[in-house]
Amino acid sequence: MEPYRIKVVEPLALTTRPQREAALKRVAYNPFDLRADEVTIDLLSDSGTGAISADQLAAGMRGDESYAGSRSFYRWHEVVTELTGYPHVLPAHQGRAAERILFSALLKPGDTVVSNTHFDTTRANVELTGCRALDLPCAEARDLDSDYPFKGNIDLAALGQALENAGESPVAAVLMTVTNNGGGGQPVSMENLRGAAELARRHGVPLILDAARFAENAWLVTRREPGYQDRTPRQVAEEAFRLADGCVVSAKKDGIVHIGGFIGLKDPELAERCNGLLIATEGFSTYGGLSGRDLEMMTQGLLEVTEPSYLAEREEAAAYLADRIRSVGVDIVEPSGLHALYVNAGRLLPHIPPHQYPGTALMCELYLRGGIRSAELGSLYLGEEDEHGNPVRSAPYELVRLALPRRVYTRSHYDHVARTLGDIAKDPGSVHGYRIVGQSPILRHFSIRLEPVTPQS
Ligand SMILES: Cc1ncc(COP(=O)(O)O)c(C=O)c1O
Repeated sequence: MEPYRIKVVEPLALTTRPQREAALKRVAYNPFDLRADEVTIDLLSDSGTGAISADQLAAGMRGDESYAGSRSFYRWHEVVTELTGYPHVLPAHQGRAAERILFSALLKPGDTVVSNTHFDTTRANVELTGCRALDLPCAEARDLDSDYPFKGNIDLAALGQALENAGESPVAAVLMTVTNNGGGGQPVSMENLRGAAELARRHGVPLILDAARFAENAWLVTRREPGYQDRTPRQVAEEAFRLADGCVVSAKKDGIVHIGGFIGLKDPELAERCNGLLIATEGFSTYGGLSGRDLEMMTQGLLEVTEPSYLAEREEAAAYLADRIRSVGVDIVEPSGLHALYVNAGRLLPHIPPHQYPGTALMCELYLRGGIRSAELGSLYLGEEDEHGNPVRSAPYELVRLALPRRVYTRSHYDHVARTLGDIAKDPGSVHGYRIVGQSPILRHFSIRLEPVTPQS
């Protein structure tokens, strides 16, 4: 059961099918543009969407809003350096701000960053500095149905080769995303992390953790990796941070806050360069774009998130929804993790070709039938077409991500999600694809404009 009871509630937006049809048409079939009060169950993101605890709220009230040297910063600093072991920690307003600052300070145009899988903003920030973002996920990640416990791992042999044969684009950083959000939310084993750290060290390249979900990764290590059963998630998280040379963190996930992030580093000179950029673009070193209230709530969230009872329930709730979805005959990426379930839309809607976006079709159908908002991770997110709309590159899989906000929805909300998917699975042939009518050149899925491809059109 949930290791908490509910003190504050918010009404759900209950809408009719005609209202949802009109809303989806108005936003050109891009759920990012829906108003949140048109959505009943919002599984678009687990980022900044969690419920804060009474202790976080109380800590927020103690926020010291001094411009420099605030008490809230020093409390935050103590907790973050204890957790990560990094002597240099800098607050930032969210993960991508931390990425932009670190990459601007660390990379030179033409460098390569190698990762198990870059998250989309992480890739964008690498590319915006004129560098190449190379993903080397392990081979096991390709089989969506297998129960392999650590599909978030990097391919260590390929990483070794990339480090040896850098050629014209030398590897300037190895970035391990834990858990691997772009790779189905799958965890990274400590063995794999250790292997990546050894290779990086041998080549004099820093290993950086993209540690947005450090506690969830640590929990799955205690559950799945031999030798870690008797360790607490906090101990595993501490070990993981210490294997790396630094981190970028979006605290909107495992900080359980609505806004916040940070950079942690061992290298004092790199930290100094980051600090200069932080002051220029985020704010002074003791607030980094956050209020004292935000820093206090993050500090408390970072302490709560490694509680075994919280993580155990989070895993069980995700497993509950996964079981319900499997029972209505819909496949998800296995094994189920914690922060999201990834539905195999390509398999559910095989009649829709990749460049009519089966994931988008399923995402729209979930909204039309159940008021549920989700995110496409398929050929709209990862694919490319030429100027005439002809396919150039498709995604390897057509997925829809159901992100699970922390401490927000109950099992009866999840029943509604599974029932809606079950309705769709009874008559998948009635679902149609979409075509693009407008897009931006960067991170297009955020602002895409679409129209339905119906049999008549
Ligand atoms: C793995 C990962 N890295 C970085 C980010 C970016 O963080 P933010 O949204 O706080 O900018 C995200 C956000 O979802 C993420 O999942």
